[in-house]
Amino acid sequence: MATIALDAPHHIRDLALADEGKRRTEWAERSMPVLRQIRERFAKDRPLAGRRLSCCLHVTTETANLMMTLRAAGAEVALCASNPLSTQDDVAAHLVRDHGVHVFAIKGEDNETYYTHIAQALAFGPDLTQDDGADLVGALHMIALGRLDDLAGPIRAMVEGMSADERTALVAKVEGSTEETTTGVIRLKAMAVEGILRFPIVAVNDSLTKHMFDNRYGTGQSTIDGIIRATNTLLAGSAFVVAGYGWCGRGLAMRARGAGAKVIVTEVDALAALEARMDGFDVMPMADAAAIGDVFCTVTGNIHVIRPEHFRLMKDGAIIANSGHFNVELDLDGLAGLASERREVREFVEEYLVNGRRILVLAEGRLINLSSAEGHPASVMDMSFANQALAAEYLVEQTGQLDKAVHRLPPAVDAEIARLKLAAMEVAIDTLTEEQVTYLASWDAGT
Ligand SMILES: NC(=O)c1ccc[n+]([C@@H]2O[C@H](COP(=O)([O-])OP(=O)(O)OC[C@H]3O[C@@H](n4cnc5c(N)ncnc54)[C@H](O)[C@@H]3O)[C@@H](O)[C@H]2O)c1
Repeated sequence: MATIALDAPHHIRDLALADEGKRRTEWAERSMPVLRQIRERFAKDRPLAGRRLSCCLHVTTETANLMMTLRAAGAEVALCASNPLSTQDDVAAHLVRDHGVHVFAIKGEDNETYYTHIAQALAFGPDLTQDDGADLVGALHMIALGRLDDLAGPIRAMVEGMSADERTALVAKVEGSTEETTTGVIRLKAMAVEGILRFPIVAVNDSLTKHMFDNRYGTGQSTIDGIIRATNTLLAGSAFVVAGYGWCGRGLAMRARGAGAKVIVTEVDALAALEARMDGFDVMPMADAAAIGDVFCTVTGNIHVIRPEHFRLMKDGAIIANSGHFNVELDLDGLAGLASERREVREFVEEYLVNGRRILVLAEGRLINLSSAEGHPASVMDMSFANQALAAEYLVEQTGQLDKAVHRLPPAVDAEIARLKLAAMEVAIDTLTEEQVTYLASWDAGT
């Protein structure tokens, strides 16, 4: 790979793709009425004027709409990918050409380039960061703690080129950060418990208008979409194994059932397993499900959920995918150790031959919905990114007042986003009568 200058204004596949990116970004915009309203207000109020934002998010049409909202608010913005396979190159081109966003992302980039792009987003010198998986915040804290050996090579190289004062200034400049996903929030809460957070975080994932809708309905639909686009498999009549019955797993199980599959859930949490069972799904350990499943998908946020002892039991032609944040849920090194042969049989489908049986792994175990499909539909990202935009504004409003901890957006923000979304969907609801308000606030009425 040619050396990429850290201060290059952008690093993308091809600027000539911008027209297509613009067309598709406008298509997503139609389904993002809440974010659109926030953008209109931001264009007047300019709440992020003078701030530099570095964002590490999936570079999709929906993210493009968020970037346009941050720009309307007056921010200078750098954007790198939060996954090497999720970048839409045409969208990257559109953001660079038409919105002055410094994009560092190329679909299918190797690890070296991926981390070089993260280094470029850090070198941008952010006042605020937005993460999807805590890559930027994680790197900033490794720098703050002097744990340079724990940094990926290109980031370490950048930091080694800086003086001690410059490193301190880089971290000290950051006023706060927002985090999009469950896995990132878990990491940040672990940092808060260790007492090492250097600035406040807003956990966007903890907003109800985020995880109840994005994780459940967004992941549910787009994961099925990704599996079908990668394989064109028929789900009706298949045995579909969902590992993890959290917000994502609930949505995925629901949509797989809707497509006619017999759904099996695996869990480690008794409450989640009980809920899955009472929602009407079979629940069993992966060791039992392995021999039955036709399609497997992990959504746990955990490591090595499907391992060699499971792969050994699988049927010929079993399809294996992951929709959890990191590509660690499938033990692919373990699978490679079992396999006598390995080859790509179709885009996004790698076949491993294990004891004469073909095991089909999709998208190298990376987020399937963003690898072989387009990620969540814009309509659901409308609420997630409304939270992101308002979280950036909130961090600026609260400068110097928030603890160095992981915070939620105030519940009133959740309620307002839900209200705006319902209004956009032309759904009306009842309001409390005065009598009902009084009744709900009293303890002695109605007994
Ligand atoms: N694909 C996407 O676009 C997308 C969107 C949102 C979240 N995510 C990611 O998906 C993952 C899950 O998110 P969530 O919001 O559903 O989390 P969650 O915490 O609500 O649910 C995770 C569930 O997995 C279970 N689990 C943990 N280890 C397990 C194991 N070994 N076997 C079976 N079950 C196990 C947990 O008990 C829990 O019920 C996270 O990594 C998150 O970041 C992906």
